[in-house]
Amino acid sequence: MSNLQSQVPTRRFGCSDRQVSVIGQGTWMLEDSAPTAVAALQRGIDLGLTHIDTAEMYGQGAAERLVAAAIKGRREQVFLVSKVLPSNASRRNTLKACEDSLQRLGTDYLDCYLLHWRGRTKLAETLGAFESLQQQGKIRSFGVSNFDVDDLDEALSIVGPGKLACNQVLYHLQERAIEHNVLPWCQRNEVAVVAYSPFGHGNFPSRGGKGGSVLEQLAAKYAVTPYQIALAFLCRHPETFAIPKTVNLAHVAANAAAASLQLDADELDAIDLAFPRGAKPRSLPTI
Ligand SMILES: NC(=O)c1ccc[n+]([C@@H]2O[C@H](COP(=O)([O-])OP(=O)(O)OC[C@H]3O[C@@H](n4cnc5c(N)ncnc54)[C@H](OP(=O)(O)O)[C@@H]3O)[C@@H](O)[C@H]2O)c1
Repeated sequence: MSNLQSQVPTRRFGCSDRQVSVIGQGTWMLEDSAPTAVAALQRGIDLGLTHIDTAEMYGQGAAERLVAAAIKGRREQVFLVSKVLPSNASRRNTLKACEDSLQRLGTDYLDCYLLHWRGRTKLAETLGAFESLQQQGKIRSFGVSNFDVDDLDEALSIVGPGKLACNQVLYHLQERAIEHNVLPWCQRNEVAVVAYSPFGHGNFPSRGGKGGSVLEQLAAKYAVTPYQIALAFLCRHPETFAIPKTVNLAHVAANAAAASLQLDADELDAIDLAFPRGAKPRSLPTI
Protein backbone atom coordinates (compact mmCIF):
# COMPACT_ATOMS: atom_id res chain seq x y z
CA MET A 1 0.00 0.00 0.00
CA SER A 2 1.14 3.51 -0.73
CA ASN A 3 1.55 5.93 2.13
CA LEU A 4 1.19 9.05 -0.05
CA GLN A 5 -1.18 11.75 1.19
CA SER A 6 -4.58 11.75 -0.46
CA GLN A 7 -5.18 15.52 -0.19
CA VAL A 8 -4.36 17.00 -3.57
CA PRO A 9 -2.03 20.02 -3.53
CA THR A 10 -3.07 23.16 -5.40
CA ARG A 11 -1.08 25.69 -7.36
CA ARG A 12 -1.79 29.07 -8.93
CA PHE A 13 -3.63 28.71 -12.23
CA GLY A 14 -1.58 30.76 -14.69
CA CYS A 15 -2.09 34.49 -14.34
CA SER A 16 -5.36 34.02 -12.44
CA ASP A 17 -5.61 34.46 -8.69
CA ARG A 18 -7.05 30.96 -8.25
CA GLN A 19 -5.39 28.02 -6.55
CA VAL A 20 -6.35 24.91 -8.50
CA SER A 21 -5.73 21.21 -7.80
CA VAL A 22 -2.64 20.01 -9.65
CA ILE A 23 -4.49 16.87 -10.73
CA GLY A 24 -8.07 17.16 -11.91
CA GLN A 25 -10.68 15.01 -13.59
CA GLY A 26 -11.41 14.67 -17.30
CA THR A 27 -14.88 13.86 -18.62
CA TRP A 28 -14.49 12.90 -22.27
CA MET A 29 -16.58 9.75 -22.98
CA LEU A 30 -17.80 9.77 -19.40
CA GLU A 31 -21.33 9.18 -20.61
CA ASP A 32 -20.33 5.66 -21.65
CA SER A 33 -20.32 4.72 -17.95
CA ALA A 34 -22.95 7.08 -16.60
CA PRO A 35 -23.89 6.00 -13.02
CA THR A 36 -20.35 4.96 -12.08
CA ALA A 37 -19.04 8.16 -13.60
CA VAL A 38 -20.99 10.39 -11.22
CA ALA A 39 -19.79 8.37 -8.21
CA ALA A 40 -16.21 8.56 -9.48
CA LEU A 41 -16.35 12.34 -9.95
CA GLN A 42 -17.84 12.77 -6.46
CA ARG A 43 -15.17 10.56 -4.90
CA GLY A 44 -12.56 12.61 -6.74
CA ILE A 45 -13.96 15.86 -5.35
CA ASP A 46 -13.95 14.33 -1.84
CA LEU A 47 -10.24 13.57 -2.29
CA GLY A 48 -9.37 17.01 -3.65
CA LEU A 49 -9.50 16.39 -7.43
CA THR A 50 -11.58 19.55 -7.73
CA HIS A 51 -10.36 20.74 -11.16
CA ILE A 52 -13.08 19.36 -13.45
CA ASP A 53 -12.71 19.53 -17.20
CA THR A 54 -15.65 19.16 -19.54
CA ALA A 55 -16.88 20.47 -22.91
CA GLU A 56 -20.06 21.00 -24.87
CA MET A 57 -18.67 18.46 -27.34
CA TYR A 58 -18.45 15.54 -24.89
CA GLY A 59 -21.43 13.32 -25.53
CA GLN A 60 -23.13 16.36 -27.11
CA GLY A 61 -23.78 17.80 -23.65
CA ALA A 62 -24.20 14.47 -21.84
CA ALA A 63 -20.88 14.81 -19.98
CA GLU A 64 -21.86 18.28 -18.73
CA ARG A 65 -25.13 16.83 -17.38
CA LEU A 66 -23.21 14.13 -15.49
CA VAL A 67 -20.90 16.78 -14.07
CA ALA A 68 -24.01 18.71 -12.94
CA ALA A 69 -25.16 15.65 -10.99
CA ALA A 70 -21.71 15.23 -9.42
CA ILE A 71 -21.31 18.86 -8.28
CA LYS A 72 -24.90 19.45 -7.14
CA GLY A 73 -24.79 21.13 -3.74
CA ARG A 74 -21.02 21.63 -3.82
CA ARG A 75 -20.46 24.00 -6.75
CA GLU A 76 -18.12 26.23 -4.75
CA GLN A 77 -15.74 23.34 -4.08
CA VAL A 78 -14.83 22.83 -7.73
CA PHE A 79 -12.88 24.67 -10.41
CA LEU A 80 -15.16 24.04 -13.36
CA VAL A 81 -13.86 24.29 -16.92
CA SER A 82 -15.84 23.90 -20.13
CA LYS A 83 -15.11 24.55 -23.79
CA VAL A 84 -16.81 26.02 -26.82
CA LEU A 85 -16.47 24.20 -30.15
CA PRO A 86 -14.75 26.10 -32.98
CA SER A 87 -17.95 25.67 -35.03
CA ASN A 88 -19.73 27.75 -32.35
CA ALA A 89 -16.97 30.30 -31.92
CA SER A 90 -18.65 33.32 -33.52
CA ARG A 91 -19.55 36.02 -30.99
CA ARG A 92 -23.25 35.23 -30.98
CA ASN A 93 -22.82 31.45 -30.87
CA THR A 94 -20.14 31.61 -28.16
CA LEU A 95 -22.50 33.57 -25.91
CA LYS A 96 -25.25 31.03 -26.61
CA ALA A 97 -22.95 28.00 -26.21
CA CYS A 98 -21.87 29.30 -22.81
CA GLU A 99 -25.49 29.76 -21.70
CA ASP A 100 -26.27 26.21 -22.84
CA SER A 101 -23.27 24.80 -20.98
CA LEU A 102 -24.24 26.69 -17.82
CA GLN A 103 -27.75 25.31 -18.04
CA ARG A 104 -26.58 21.72 -18.54
CA LEU A 105 -24.07 22.11 -15.71
CA GLY A 106 -26.70 23.54 -13.36
CA THR A 107 -24.58 26.55 -12.49
CA ASP A 108 -24.50 30.26 -13.25
CA TYR A 109 -20.75 30.57 -13.79
CA LEU A 110 -17.72 28.71 -15.12
CA ASP A 111 -14.33 29.09 -13.50
CA CYS A 112 -12.68 28.94 -16.90
CA TYR A 113 -14.00 28.79 -20.47
CA LEU A 114 -11.84 27.59 -23.35
CA LEU A 115 -11.88 27.61 -27.13
CA HIS A 116 -11.59 23.84 -27.76
CA TRP A 117 -9.32 24.29 -30.76
CA ARG A 118 -8.79 26.96 -33.33
CA GLY A 119 -11.20 26.98 -36.26
CA ARG A 120 -12.08 29.46 -38.97
CA THR A 121 -13.64 32.16 -36.81
CA LYS A 122 -11.41 35.17 -36.17
CA LEU A 123 -9.75 34.73 -32.81
CA ALA A 124 -10.55 38.33 -31.84
CA GLU A 125 -14.26 37.59 -32.19
CA THR A 126 -14.20 34.57 -29.86
CA LEU A 127 -11.91 36.24 -27.35
CA GLY A 128 -14.13 39.33 -27.44
CA ALA A 129 -17.11 37.13 -26.55
CA PHE A 130 -15.09 35.59 -23.69
CA GLU A 131 -14.33 39.09 -22.37
CA SER A 132 -18.05 39.96 -22.48
CA LEU A 133 -18.93 36.75 -20.62
CA GLN A 134 -16.29 37.58 -18.04
CA GLN A 135 -17.68 41.10 -17.56
CA GLN A 136 -21.15 39.59 -17.07
CA GLY A 137 -19.77 37.23 -14.38
CA LYS A 138 -20.67 34.13 -16.39
CA ILE A 139 -17.05 33.03 -16.62
CA ARG A 140 -14.35 33.84 -14.10
CA SER A 141 -11.47 33.38 -16.55
CA PHE A 142 -10.82 32.12 -20.07
CA GLY A 143 -8.18 30.29 -22.02
CA VAL A 144 -7.46 28.22 -25.10
CA SER A 145 -6.80 24.62 -26.04
CA ASN A 146 -4.56 22.98 -28.64
CA PHE A 147 -2.80 26.29 -29.35
CA ASP A 148 0.72 26.33 -30.74
CA VAL A 149 2.96 29.36 -30.17
CA ASP A 150 1.86 31.31 -33.25
CA ASP A 151 -1.77 31.08 -32.10
CA LEU A 152 -0.71 31.93 -28.55
CA ASP A 153 1.18 35.00 -29.81
CA GLU A 154 -1.92 36.11 -31.67
CA ALA A 155 -4.20 35.55 -28.67
CA LEU A 156 -1.81 37.47 -26.43
CA SER A 157 -1.67 40.36 -28.87
CA ILE A 158 -5.49 40.53 -28.83
CA VAL A 159 -6.21 40.33 -25.09
CA GLY A 160 -2.92 41.57 -23.66
CA PRO A 161 -0.86 40.10 -20.83
CA GLY A 162 -2.44 38.63 -17.72
CA LYS A 163 -5.69 37.56 -19.38
CA LEU A 164 -5.17 34.07 -20.81
CA ALA A 165 -5.49 31.64 -17.92
CA CYS A 166 -4.42 28.40 -19.62
CA ASN A 167 -3.60 26.40 -22.70
CA GLN A 168 -4.96 22.85 -22.52
CA VAL A 169 -2.77 20.56 -24.63
CA LEU A 170 -1.95 16.94 -25.39
CA TYR A 171 0.84 15.90 -23.02
CA HIS A 172 1.86 12.42 -21.93
CA LEU A 173 5.04 10.38 -21.66
CA GLN A 174 4.98 9.36 -25.31
CA GLU A 175 3.97 12.81 -26.59
CA ARG A 176 6.16 15.57 -25.21
CA ALA A 177 6.08 17.98 -28.17
CA ILE A 178 4.83 20.87 -26.01
CA GLU A 179 8.17 20.92 -24.20
CA HIS A 180 9.89 22.39 -27.28
CA ASN A 181 8.10 25.75 -27.50
CA VAL A 182 4.60 25.74 -26.03
CA LEU A 183 5.56 25.02 -22.42
CA PRO A 184 8.38 27.64 -22.37
CA TRP A 185 6.01 30.18 -23.97
CA CYS A 186 3.40 29.50 -21.29
CA GLN A 187 6.03 29.69 -18.53
CA ARG A 188 7.19 33.09 -19.80
CA ASN A 189 3.66 34.45 -20.06
CA GLU A 190 2.12 33.02 -16.87
CA VAL A 191 -0.29 30.79 -18.73
CA ALA A 192 -1.11 27.48 -17.04
CA VAL A 193 -0.45 24.33 -19.06
CA VAL A 194 -3.13 21.69 -18.61
CA ALA A 195 -2.08 18.22 -19.79
CA TYR A 196 -4.94 16.41 -21.44
CA SER A 197 -4.90 12.67 -22.14
CA PRO A 198 -2.04 12.33 -19.60
CA PHE A 199 -2.24 8.52 -19.97
CA GLY A 200 -2.26 8.67 -23.76
CA HIS A 201 -6.04 8.26 -23.95
CA GLY A 202 -5.70 4.64 -22.84
CA ASN A 203 -2.46 3.97 -24.74
CA PHE A 204 -0.17 3.78 -21.71
CA PRO A 205 3.41 2.48 -22.06
CA SER A 206 3.40 -1.30 -21.85
CA ARG A 207 5.01 -3.01 -18.85
CA GLY A 208 7.42 -5.03 -20.95
CA GLY A 209 8.84 -2.12 -22.95
CA LYS A 210 12.02 -0.22 -22.04
CA GLY A 211 10.15 2.84 -20.79
CA GLY A 212 7.57 0.69 -19.04
CA SER A 213 10.24 -1.04 -16.98
CA VAL A 214 11.68 2.31 -15.82
CA LEU A 215 8.19 3.26 -14.63
CA GLU A 216 7.80 -0.14 -12.93
CA GLN A 217 11.07 0.29 -11.01
CA LEU A 218 10.14 3.74 -9.75
CA ALA A 219 6.63 2.59 -8.93
CA ALA A 220 8.04 -0.27 -6.84
CA LYS A 221 10.37 2.13 -5.01
CA TYR A 222 7.48 4.41 -3.96
CA ALA A 223 4.85 1.66 -3.61
CA VAL A 224 2.69 3.34 -6.25
CA THR A 225 1.64 2.48 -9.82
CA PRO A 226 3.37 3.44 -13.09
CA TYR A 227 0.37 5.72 -13.80
CA GLN A 228 1.12 7.68 -10.65
CA ILE A 229 4.77 8.00 -11.65
CA ALA A 230 3.63 9.35 -15.03
CA LEU A 231 1.43 12.00 -13.39
CA ALA A 232 4.27 13.08 -11.10
CA PHE A 233 6.53 13.50 -14.12
CA LEU A 234 3.98 15.51 -16.13
CA CYS A 235 3.32 17.84 -13.19
CA ARG A 236 7.00 18.37 -12.32
CA HIS A 237 6.91 22.00 -13.53
CA PRO A 238 5.03 24.49 -11.34
CA GLU A 239 2.99 25.70 -14.34
CA THR A 240 1.55 22.28 -15.24
CA PHE A 241 -1.68 20.51 -14.30
CA ALA A 242 -3.10 17.18 -15.48
CA ILE A 243 -6.68 16.03 -15.99
CA PRO A 244 -6.81 12.22 -16.20
CA LYS A 245 -10.16 10.61 -16.78
CA THR A 246 -11.30 7.56 -14.87
CA VAL A 247 -14.54 5.91 -13.85
CA ASN A 248 -12.78 3.48 -11.50
CA LEU A 249 -12.85 4.44 -7.80
CA ALA A 250 -9.46 2.87 -7.07
CA HIS A 251 -7.96 4.82 -9.96
CA VAL A 252 -9.55 8.03 -8.66
CA ALA A 253 -7.77 7.51 -5.34
CA ALA A 254 -4.50 6.67 -7.10
CA ASN A 255 -4.66 9.83 -9.23
CA ALA A 256 -5.36 11.95 -6.16
CA ALA A 257 -2.45 10.43 -4.24
CA ALA A 258 -0.08 10.95 -7.20
CA ALA A 259 -0.31 14.70 -6.82
CA SER A 260 1.87 14.63 -3.72
CA LEU A 261 4.51 12.34 -5.18
CA GLN A 262 7.82 14.17 -5.71
CA LEU A 263 10.45 12.55 -7.91
CA ASP A 264 14.08 13.58 -7.49
CA ALA A 265 16.26 14.93 -10.30
CA ASP A 266 17.85 11.54 -11.09
CA GLU A 267 14.44 9.89 -11.30
CA LEU A 268 13.13 12.62 -13.60
CA ASP A 269 16.25 12.16 -15.76
CA ALA A 270 15.63 8.41 -15.97
CA ILE A 271 12.08 9.01 -17.23
CA ASP A 272 13.32 11.71 -19.60
CA LEU A 273 15.78 9.20 -21.12
CA ALA A 274 13.22 6.41 -21.31
CA PHE A 275 10.64 8.62 -23.06
CA PRO A 276 12.66 11.06 -25.18
CA ARG A 277 10.77 14.13 -26.30
CA GLY A 278 11.99 13.69 -29.89
CA ALA A 279 12.31 16.33 -32.57
CA LYS A 280 9.90 19.24 -32.71
CA PRO A 281 7.00 18.30 -35.01
CA ARG A 282 5.80 20.78 -37.65
CA SER A 283 2.49 21.27 -35.94
CA LEU A 284 1.32 20.68 -32.42
CA PRO A 285 0.03 17.11 -31.97
CA THR A 286 -3.60 16.85 -30.85
CA ILE A 287 -6.18 14.13 -30.32
N1 LIG B 1 -8.82 19.87 -25.05
C1 LIG B 1 -8.85 18.77 -25.79
O1 LIG B 1 -8.82 18.83 -27.04
C2 LIG B 1 -8.91 17.43 -25.12
C3 LIG B 1 -8.66 16.26 -25.85
C4 LIG B 1 -8.69 15.02 -25.19
C5 LIG B 1 -8.96 14.98 -23.83
N2 LIG B 1 -9.23 16.13 -23.13
C6 LIG B 1 -9.57 16.09 -21.67
O2 LIG B 1 -8.57 15.31 -21.01
C7 LIG B 1 -9.21 14.28 -20.26
C8 LIG B 1 -8.30 13.05 -20.09
O3 LIG B 1 -7.90 12.51 -21.32
P1 LIG B 1 -8.51 11.15 -21.93
O4 LIG B 1 -9.90 10.98 -21.44
O5 LIG B 1 -8.27 11.25 -23.40
O6 LIG B 1 -7.63 9.95 -21.43
P2 LIG B 1 -6.53 9.66 -20.28
O7 LIG B 1 -6.88 10.38 -19.03
O8 LIG B 1 -5.19 9.85 -20.89
O9 LIG B 1 -6.73 8.11 -20.11
C9 LIG B 1 -7.91 7.55 -19.66
C10 LIG B 1 -7.67 6.07 -19.48
O10 LIG B 1 -6.77 5.86 -18.40
C11 LIG B 1 -7.35 4.94 -17.46
N3 LIG B 1 -6.92 5.39 -16.12
C12 LIG B 1 -7.21 6.57 -15.50
N4 LIG B 1 -6.62 6.64 -14.29
C13 LIG B 1 -5.93 5.46 -14.14
C14 LIG B 1 -5.11 4.94 -13.12
N5 LIG B 1 -4.83 5.63 -12.00
N6 LIG B 1 -4.57 3.69 -13.29
C15 LIG B 1 -4.82 2.98 -14.43
N7 LIG B 1 -5.59 3.43 -15.44
C16 LIG B 1 -6.14 4.67 -15.30
C17 LIG B 1 -8.83 5.03 -17.68
O11 LIG B 1 -9.46 3.81 -17.39
P3 LIG B 1 -10.41 3.61 -16.09
O12 LIG B 1 -11.63 4.45 -16.31
O13 LIG B 1 -10.67 2.17 -16.09
O14 LIG B 1 -9.61 4.08 -14.93
C18 LIG B 1 -8.93 5.32 -19.17
O15 LIG B 1 -8.88 4.10 -19.90
C19 LIG B 1 -10.48 14.02 -21.09
O16 LIG B 1 -11.41 13.22 -20.40
C20 LIG B 1 -10.92 15.43 -21.39
O17 LIG B 1 -11.55 16.01 -20.27
C21 LIG B 1 -9.19 17.36 -23.75
